[in-house]
Amino acid sequence: MVAATAILPAELLDKTGRRFLARVFTRADRGRLEEMYRAFDPKRRAQGLPPGDGESIHRWLDLVLATGTHVLVEADREILGHLMVLPIDERSCELANFLHQAIRNRGIGTALNLLALEIARDLGRHRVWLSVEPSNRIAIRSYEKAGFRRLPGSLWAPEVERERLPQS
Ligand SMILES: CC(C)(COP(=O)(O)OP(=O)(O)OC[C@H]1O[C@@H](n2cnc3c(N)ncnc32)[C@H](O)[C@@H]1OP(=O)(O)O)[C@@H](O)C(=O)NCCC(=O)NCCS
Repeated sequence: MVAATAILPAELLDKTGRRFLARVFTRADRGRLEEMYRAFDPKRRAQGLPPGDGESIHRWLDLVLATGTHVLVEADREILGHLMVLPIDERSCELANFLHQAIRNRGIGTALNLLALEIARDLGRHRVWLSVEPSNRIAIRSYEKAGFRRLPGSLWAPEVERERLPQS
């Protein structure tokens, strides 16, 4: 997958009017992104992610950063969030996002979900899929606000699958 250059960088506004920059991850950001995940709290909240210790975070990032489109959320040159749009197949991609605890619950996650839909559309992917634990109410609410709906059949599973089709 390639970076969605037509869409990024983008400005995101939180509910208080604070501005954040959403821009494509580059290799030079790797150390600062690891730092964000080391300071992330609570760890292992979203299906065991991010991992709990520095070495596991390093290995996990090696894996996820190898493919897909990765977007950082920045303010005052500090990395505070990471959106991943990962390929599943030619038609679909997976969405995941992780915001530092300092900026949660202000609308940035919802804005990133909408950005992910634009990125998917730009990449020609017509389906965005994600999986979320039913107990992660804040994440579920942010996905609902961006139009994601629960897929039938996932009601009793430990994880709930959702999808949204970007409008063409
Ligand atoms: C999940 C996450 C990306 C969401 O981003 P966010 O910026 O915090 O979410 P938003 O502010 O856009 O939306 C959250 C919504 O949930 C609501 N909410 C907060 N706590 C809630 C709760 N316990 N129950 C129900 N709704 C809740 C908020 O009020 C808000 O809705 P509103 O705007 O209608 O008031 C972010 O919280 C995060 O990074 N969490 C840790 C990692 C994680 O769980 N990632 C998801 C992996 S599936």
